Amino acid sequence: MKHLIDPMDLSPEEIDDILALAQDIIYDKDKYSEVCKGKKLATLFFEPSTRTRLSFEAAMMELGGNVLGFSSADSSSSSKGESVGDTVRVVSCYADIIAMRHPKEGAPKLASMVSGVPIINAGDGGHNHPTQTLTDLLTILREKGRLDNYTIGFCGDLKFGRTVHSLIKALSRYENINFVLISPRELKVPEYIITEIFEKNNIKYREVTSMEEVIHELDILYMTRVQRERFFNEADYIRLKDTYILDRAKLKNAKEDLVILHPLPRVNEISVAVDDDPRACYFKQALNGKYVRMALIMTLLGLKGVMR
Ligand code: CP
Repeated sequence: MKHLIDPMDLSPEEIDDILALAQDIIYDKDKYSEVCKGKKLATLFFEPSTRTRLSFEAAMMELGGNVLGFSSADSSSSSKGESVGDTVRVVSCYADIIAMRHPKEGAPKLASMVSGVPIINAGDGGHNHPTQTLTDLLTILREKGRLDNYTIGFCGDLKFGRTVHSLIKALSRYENINFVLISPRELKVPEYIITEIFEKNNIKYREVTSMEEVIHELDILYMTRVQRERFFNEADYIRLKDTYILDRAKLKNAKEDLVILHPLPRVNEISVAVDDDPRACYFKQALNGKYVRMALIMTLLGLKGVMR
């Protein structure tokens, strides 16, 4: 039984297979409309979500399966003191696969140790968000036609942004990617990403504080929200939240084929006037999330071969 807790749980070949399957689903949706008939996905969300939870649920429905679950800790027995381990042990008696989001880093890993069914990490604290990574990779592949050879800028809250940590890890395995890390000093990527990912693998990276200084170099710009819920101090959040706002004026200096990504939700960091720019790909990215989650559910349930 395979779980997806960290993006590195998947080999590059397994990622290629999931992205290929997602693209086949996009190409011929009807072919997959009953592949999960009789199967159930449980979504256990101890932390708020719009895209991840609903795209998982839509994914399972479009595969012909059913969904059950909860969307906040308050509406589950964890509010009475039940442990994550007990919750998962019980839910794995009711469902064939579980997608779980939790504010505590490592909670999905703990769940995978006691679960009788595959566990998918749908975001754990400021740690990882591997299905957002698959979403991002599918979007890069569809927009650029490749997963290697480009300059990517990550901008905003690189300290707490789990989507950033997961995507950097996944991209570190592809050739000739130049990483530009744009953040205030207080929100730089964690030291383990620098030492364990960039330096250990001899990968080109640069840390800067100005978006304007580097925007002309970028092939992909990955914007992120400052993660209010991870701050200990509201005053620090207010001081840092609007450090970077991507607007039309800044895009004048960007490449014509720049791909602008954002895992969403957006707060202020991309002006709504940018939404009509053909380089804005973040809503397409949200749609890709549903297809890649369909492919992932099929893969973890061992249903991929059924369609071959
Ligand atoms: N990208 C993402 O994880 O969005 P949600 O928090 O809405 O699920």
